Amino acid sequence: MACPRFLQMELQRARLMLPSLSPFFAIPSSLSFSPIRHVSSSPSQVTLEEQQLRSSQLVALEYADLNLSYNLDLGHVRIRQHVNPLSTSFSVPAQVPDWNQVFADPTLPLMVDIGCGSGRFLMWLAKRTPKERNYLGLEIRQRIVKRAELWVKDLALNNIHILFANATISFKQLVESYPGPLMLVSVLCPDPHFKKRHHKRRVLQKPLVGAIVDNLIPGGQVFVQSDVLEVALDMRNQFDEVEALKHIDVLNSAMLCDNEGWLLSNPMGIRTEREIHAEFEGAKIYRRFYQKL
Ligand SMILES: C[S@@+](CC[C@H](N)C(=O)[O-])C[C@H]1O[C@@H](n2cnc3c(N)ncnc32)[C@H](O)[C@@H]1O
Repeated sequence: MACPRFLQMELQRARLMLPSLSPFFAIPSSLSFSPIRHVSSSPSQVTLEEQQLRSSQLVALEYADLNLSYNLDLGHVRIRQHVNPLSTSFSVPAQVPDWNQVFADPTLPLMVDIGCGSGRFLMWLAKRTPKERNYLGLEIRQRIVKRAELWVKDLALNNIHILFANATISFKQLVESYPGPLMLVSVLCPDPHFKKRHHKRRVLQKPLVGAIVDNLIPGGQVFVQSDVLEVALDMRNQFDEVEALKHIDVLNSAMLCDNEGWLLSNPMGIRTEREIHAEFEGAKIYRRFYQKL
């Protein structure tokens, strides 16, 4: 993909500041955590349209080694920006897949990404650990699930499955039926639903928190992040009050958090799409990483 040099440099800089993925998602001790900072031309020097173009180019670049095709035929229905998860069409629980059909080895430790968007973040991880872990992405927008399925097929990965599901109502049944251990659950930059009367549309509701904690194996982990402080605080409050979880602030005497208890860097080795867009716009990402006792 042709790419302006400044974008390549931007990506390289961001990559250098990301820790590499460590086995079993333990936060590497060698990290000198520092937030990835956007340092290219200031927003006032570029139009919004130019900024959005650069931002989506950065996303494509971040995932360039997946070599995905962007000319897929998805039919004529547009990919919707948002859906209302409370509408009746999303109230039917997703059918539990035959795990033997979707994963080569359904006994491997599982990571579930709730609201996985395009699924590229999980594909990147799945490609790096083809024999060690399985990855399940739950996504409520059917069109992007369809695109993700085509990408997964192209990549010939048999340790990842992107499922069209309302995670709020389907997560429990899905993970309870999975034959292997649930190792890690992530909720990354969920839709904020800012208005108070719309908070009930947020994906992370109390029963989902309960289902996550109940199904994680001891030592299993939860990673949450948002570029919206209010949303991050909402997730933080819900997980902080779970006695069976502890937040990882310090590892091998290295401080992993800022003064307010937010993780200083993304421990996954790759940023999500929303994270790339938000950091490009100069936003801070608020992160918490929990471990089950
Ligand atoms: C802002 S996007 C973030 C996507 C990705 N996690 C990232 O960080 O780039 C939030 C995603 O969650 C999905 N989503 C919202 N509510 C959901 C629900 N109840 N179940 C599954 N996915 C949901 C949305 O369709 C959207 O793709």
